[in-house]
Amino acid sequence: MMVGELALSILLASLLALAVSHFLPLLLNPKAPKGSFGWPLIGETLRFLRPHASNTLGSFLEDHCSRYGRVFKSHLFCTPTVVSCDQELNHFILQNEERLFQCSYPRPIHGILGKSSMLVVLGEDHKRLRNLALALVTSTKLKPSYLGDIEKIALHVVGAWRHVAGKDDGKSSKVIAFCEEARKFAFSVIVKQVLGLSPEEPVTARILEDFLAFMKGLISFPLYIPGTPYAKAVQARERISSTVNVIIEERRSAGSCNKGDFLDVLLSTNELSDEEKVSFVLDSLLGGYETTSLLISMVVYFLGQSAEDLDLVKREHDSIRSNKGKEECLTSEDYKKMEYTQQVINEALRCGNIVKFVHRKALKDVRYKEYLIPSGWKVLPVFSAVHLNPSLHGNAQQFQPCRWEGASQGTSKKFTPFGGGPRLCPGSELAKIEAAFFLHHLVLNYRWRIDGDDIPMAYPYVEFQRGLPIEIEPISPES
Ligand code: HEM
Repeated sequence: MMVGELALSILLASLLALAVSHFLPLLLNPKAPKGSFGWPLIGETLRFLRPHASNTLGSFLEDHCSRYGRVFKSHLFCTPTVVSCDQELNHFILQNEERLFQCSYPRPIHGILGKSSMLVVLGEDHKRLRNLALALVTSTKLKPSYLGDIEKIALHVVGAWRHVAGKDDGKSSKVIAFCEEARKFAFSVIVKQVLGLSPEEPVTARILEDFLAFMKGLISFPLYIPGTPYAKAVQARERISSTVNVIIEERRSAGSCNKGDFLDVLLSTNELSDEEKVSFVLDSLLGGYETTSLLISMVVYFLGQSAEDLDLVKREHDSIRSNKGKEECLTSEDYKKMEYTQQVINEALRCGNIVKFVHRKALKDVRYKEYLIPSGWKVLPVFSAVHLNPSLHGNAQQFQPCRWEGASQGTSKKFTPFGGGPRLCPGSELAKIEAAFFLHHLVLNYRWRIDGDDIPMAYPYVEFQRGLPIEIEPISPES
């Protein structure tokens, strides 16, 4: 046989094998929900990942839901998948973690997060790490400087804008890239809470730099060749690990220097290896940084579209401040009084859909109502589809904070911005307090408007393409 013919036969055989492995799950599971598998290997992944405004479903989900219903099969991330846009099924999936379903993030993410990350570990290991996370959250909340630290950092970031050069048009207004400022704030808060470091310390800037490389790699093509964002992310993780290890060693050798941060509690536990401790710190930084800064940007974005809601928020914060001294710190009582602000935050979470879906897989064949979810298939509960379902939230496309009036503050089946079940986000309360305190100092100190149009886009990770430029003007001269 000629070499050319041999190559052709190998190619045809490979294509046949690919097609069989792609379509075999379809043949073997006739009772799986309706849907389509698309192309061999990539399936429908590219269409699923096509960017769209984060307060919309996107054309893929819209088409598929209207064609096949709210639960359908597809082929995503190289795996046969059941996509759920149904609140009951989403709830059932989250509540049955480790019994019928299991957290299952794509392999390349494991390479970056490391094998001890909470998003990667399963079973007893996950329970152990999670219990510690909850204990840490509780002990941090009891720390007397907990709220004061958050407020101090908000004041530091917001106060610095007074020194930003103004527009060259004779007015006192200036334009700032809001997403960047929100990131600075959220990063400083989480680094303070976890490692006890202030924004001014040089090591904080070093961690931030490595962390940005780490974040870029999480959303990059997973190719480990020197110079690619993925390889840079894996290296950045190693550098952060060594920095954190040095901080841990310094704290150990300083003896019982009690700073009252996560690290003190972490060091006093014998339940985790040093590698798990470093991973734990990374998880907290990762979980608490981009998501929280996005939440604050979403709040500013949506309030920027609604003068009426902004006015109500401003009145609320004016009233809280008028009962306190100018320099007096916010307390948990003040936070409770920020009722409208909390409605705004909930609505920004519902409309903004910071986490569009989470990754799970079926551990066994699962029969749910009329569907059969085959064992081993990927399962994606899509939160945004529930948040934007008009039969669950009237005028679902509209930003209407008052819909949350009198509603309980927690999550429910139809509102799951922080996930649910045994993997419910442990940082939800911290994120909301950060957003409320930042907003307090923003509205008290500045008038603002969004400079041009910058819609939050789901890639599916959410991003403001222009970094949300806002024009700000100080309300009163610096005292
Ligand atoms: C607006 C802000 C935030 C949003 C929207 C958010 C969202 C989420 C979601 C949806 C999950 C569930 C993931 C899954 O089930 O696979 C999660 C888990 C997690 N989040 Fe958050 N989060 C936020 C803030 C934070 C903060 C401030 C922290 C840290 C202090 C944090 C730390 C974590 C950790 C460690 C997990 C893993 C929990 C586990 O697997 O048991 N998050 N988050």
